Amino acid sequence: MTLTKQQDEAHAGLAGVIAGDSSICLCGAEDESLLYCGYSIEDLAASSSFEEVSWLLLHGELPNKKELEKYKNALNQHKSPSAALIKVLEQIPEHTNPMDMLRTGISFFGNLEKDPEHTDPKELSEKLLVTLSPMMLYWWHFQQNKARIKLNVSAHSIAGTFLELLHGKPPSPMHSQALDVALILYAEHEFNASTFTVRTIASTLSDYFSAIVGGVGALRGSLHGGANEWAMKLIEQCGSPDKAEKTILEMLGQKKLIMGFGHRVYKRGDPRSPIIKKWAKKLAEASGESHLFETAERIEQVMLKEKKLFPNLDFYSAVVFHCLGIPTDLFTPIFVLARTAGWSAHYQEQHTHNKLIRPLSHYIGPTHRPYIPLEKRS
Ligand code: COA
Repeated sequence: MTLTKQQDEAHAGLAGVIAGDSSICLCGAEDESLLYCGYSIEDLAASSSFEEVSWLLLHGELPNKKELEKYKNALNQHKSPSAALIKVLEQIPEHTNPMDMLRTGISFFGNLEKDPEHTDPKELSEKLLVTLSPMMLYWWHFQQNKARIKLNVSAHSIAGTFLELLHGKPPSPMHSQALDVALILYAEHEFNASTFTVRTIASTLSDYFSAIVGGVGALRGSLHGGANEWAMKLIEQCGSPDKAEKTILEMLGQKKLIMGFGHRVYKRGDPRSPIIKKWAKKLAEASGESHLFETAERIEQVMLKEKKLFPNLDFYSAVVFHCLGIPTDLFTPIFVLARTAGWSAHYQEQHTHNKLIRPLSHYIGPTHRPYIPLEKRS
């Protein structure tokens, strides 16, 4: 048996492989840029809102005033999860990782949809986007404090709703804006591992919720979305710039990975990092936790000097989330909240020019072995 040319070559981790066309997002590895549907991440973070960005990703164009208002109203209509979902959430045990709770919660939420296979993914994504914060925070308060929180909020944005449900009071405009910017930065990032998982599932003509649940599973890992939680643990464990320098040098000496650094696509800098770093500094100063920012900054300096590696979005996002009073275990679930916008856009785009995703493997096992009958095996 001979192997075909393709079977004779392997691209470990699909690194450098272009796996399909997309007009949703452009990661500029050469000039460290990031565009959503052609708009720069800097402009979007400075002037738009997460709602505007999720509409942009799904429609390919920025909404006009009327369209945005209609979209926000539709989002507000679906705010409270159904009694059936609440009942399921109450049964998910306290020890459960919040990402696993989301895996179950989203799956059950999908069961409540009458005909998801024939419903526009735009409509499904609207419903899911506004349900995620109530889903997470109802479960969180119920399991942590045995409290059945009220789910009606005064906030009119997804970021504001998350913070209001978490803290039981409306957030300050600065806090709401900081989370909104983080959601914008996390919303989309072309064929990353979780989005590619979503597209692979979509390519089999499977349903929207199966694809999103698959995305959650891929995002949970520490090499992907889970990195922000590990980055926070490291910054807190270091506690001061000098201790950070010592700890990082020791860890590098032991060939350990420093979470929140490096990237598969960007090799000279993550364009999202300077944006979120500014917010990390601002919030750390405002909340009297400047030492955390200074510690993080020293880690950045050591990583640059020792490994020529730069922080990715997850690193300074960890400081931002911490200063917003968000428990570390909820950092990756926030990533789900934001990336649901991008996943939904990719699910929809995959179906517009679908081709089953089914690559080849580079076979490295034995061939042509004579079969050994069971009684003759040792
Ligand atoms: N800490 C320490 N060393 C790192 C590193 C990190 N965060 N990221 C990469 N490196 C090292 C690798 O060990 C490797 O060293 P080697 O050549 O001596 O073996 C080299 O840099 C190249 O890295 P590589 O693993 O080939 O990069 P990749 O493209 O396969 O991986 C990541 C990219 C993101 C998976 C990787 O940088 C990583 O694990 N980062 C930490 C997790 C993280 O922050 N994930 C969120 C990504 S947005």
